[in-house]
Amino acid sequence: MAAVAERIFSGVQPTGNLHLGNYLGAIKRFVDLQKGRECIYCVVDLHAITIWQEPEDLKRHIREVTAAFIACGIDPKANIVFNQSQVSGHAELAWVLNCVARMGWLNRMTQFKEKAGKDRENASVGLFAYPTLMAADILLYRATHVPVGEDQKQHLELTRDIAQKFNNDYARTIAANGHEDGYFPMTEPLIAGPATRVMSLRDGSKKMSKSDASDNSRINLADDADAIATKVRKAKTDPEPLPSELEGLKGRPEADNLVGIFAALSDGAKEDVLRDFGGAQFSAFKAALVELAVEKLGPIGGEMKRLMDDPASIDAILSDGADRARVIADQTIRDVKDIIGLVRG
Ligand code: TYM
Repeated sequence: MAAVAERIFSGVQPTGNLHLGNYLGAIKRFVDLQKGRECIYCVVDLHAITIWQEPEDLKRHIREVTAAFIACGIDPKANIVFNQSQVSGHAELAWVLNCVARMGWLNRMTQFKEKAGKDRENASVGLFAYPTLMAADILLYRATHVPVGEDQKQHLELTRDIAQKFNNDYARTIAANGHEDGYFPMTEPLIAGPATRVMSLRDGSKKMSKSDASDNSRINLADDADAIATKVRKAKTDPEPLPSELEGLKGRPEADNLVGIFAALSDGAKEDVLRDFGGAQFSAFKAALVELAVEKLGPIGGEMKRLMDDPASIDAILSDGADRARVIADQTIRDVKDIIGLVRG
């Protein structure tokens, strides 16, 4: 079987507090990419449990990410939307890839170091192996492109290394099984646009994150208009007016961040924003940003709430998506077993 021409895969963890960074860096781009392409969007619940999750919260968060996908405009009929744990191929392929990836490669992963912190001995084995499960997600569908935020770049590079080593190690049986040009593709990350790394509203040197203790550091997708307005008004800035050129944002991380957010929300570039607001005070710029953010995000939060009131419909979407994902995944697992020499009846 030849690899498909173009297949998009991406995932979001159901760990609560979906925020503007997840939207601009990932989900909004999933929506833009869906036109005319085969897209698979996954709620990666097996990744979430690499860190402790209360079971009731996990269930709610799986449905919440699904609701966010749909509220943002992903069509679950035209694309495949499902949660990872319903397709056993993810865990199966992850095991095979754990045997391909090298300890040294995983030891270099900066996200593990950040998440494990000082108490590494107490981190779960799953947290360490997290990137091989991510490689399995992508390679299970032999995806060619993966839209993500900047923070996932290293994991995507690892995915290519794993795919390359698998293709090399098993080159003979891959060819014997009729696959020309290797089995797994060299997946391309899609990291583009003005908001690939949205920063905290309270500290321009820190990434906007689900786990930041301060809720004012992020705009949540579920926030209402009042919360959005308050958070934007409270966002940290500096005393200078906005510059007219990109160059003038250097060394001004908070200004750079707000301009990037404005650009991404208005489907423009930072240059466009500076052309309109160069010389303006932050008070005026923030008022315009509040208006834009409420206009773009308000309906998403409302629609998420409406969808969350009917969990059975969300579960039906996930179940249908999982059925369709399994068709592709099962074929890959069969191929991989044949390639590596596992007997199947
Ligand atoms: P997660 O759940 O942390 O984040 C989901 C997506 O949001 C992006 N993102 C950001 N983008 C811009 N600015 C930010 N501050 C910001 N914070 C998060 C992330 O880059 C991501 O695209 N490991 C992944 C989930 C995953 C995955 C995959 C992704 C598992 N398997 C396979 C792609 C393909 C993660 O933790 O994302």
